[in-house]
Amino acid sequence: MKHSLVEATFTEDKVKNYYAWRASNYDAGSGFEIGPHAEALRLAKVQPGQRVLDVACGTGRGTVGLAQAVGPTGKVDGLDLSNSMLAQAQTKIDKLELGQQVEFKQGNARELPYPDATFDLLYNGYMFDLIPIEGFTPILKEMARVLKPDGQLVLLNMSKPDERRTWFESVYEKWKFEPCCPVLMGPYVKMAGFTEIRRVYQPIRGSLVALLWGQEIVLARKSLG
Ligand SMILES: C[S@@+](CC[C@H](N)C(=O)[O-])C[C@H]1O[C@@H](n2cnc3c(N)ncnc32)[C@H](O)[C@@H]1O
Repeated sequence: MKHSLVEATFTEDKVKNYYAWRASNYDAGSGFEIGPHAEALRLAKVQPGQRVLDVACGTGRGTVGLAQAVGPTGKVDGLDLSNSMLAQAQTKIDKLELGQQVEFKQGNARELPYPDATFDLLYNGYMFDLIPIEGFTPILKEMARVLKPDGQLVLLNMSKPDERRTWFESVYEKWKFEPCCPVLMGPYVKMAGFTEIRRVYQPIRGSLVALLWGQEIVLARKSLG
């Protein structure tokens, strides 16, 4: 499995610096991610009153939809490595007057600062495509730890249709010109002990980025015990 993926190479410090630089223009430069977030939220079937964690929430693009779906009786926690991205997210949530049901925290997906079995649903958009492969299983296990039994995992990733090497990966491997490269998370989600795993792959629509990569949504449940 490992060999069907090209490995992301940015260290956490480099990721922090990159997103400090990208934060103020991240939304403007990633409009093609709006549709996939909407689709991931639709498939997640988030319920009013649920407790949700958005790991690597960035500028809060997914957090907004999650907060609207859980409503005033629910709560969304958003966590990210980058304070600059979190500042953008907080501004967005405040403007939409959703602040009562959302709390942001700076932190690392490798060590989630929440107790065991806290969340009904864990949402994570476009983070695993930045993480070196050795981090996949420990992070997924950490995600399972904070989910309640039968809690739902929803991953949205930069991806590719199948295990075959894409031309973008060959170029990425040579030049390492940006932090993200495509991942296929289903097998790792299974290895981390999740059940009911479902993958939906979609090409990107309406953007030249479609020539480079596509998106996967991976849905799964934490086993009952
Ligand atoms: C491509 S952005 C996506 C942001 C947001 N989820 C979205 O879909 O708009 C990736 C985000 O992952 C965050 N990130 C990367 N590694 C992380 C880690 N180990 N723990 C928490 N956040 C991380 C970055 O700081 C950045 O905000």
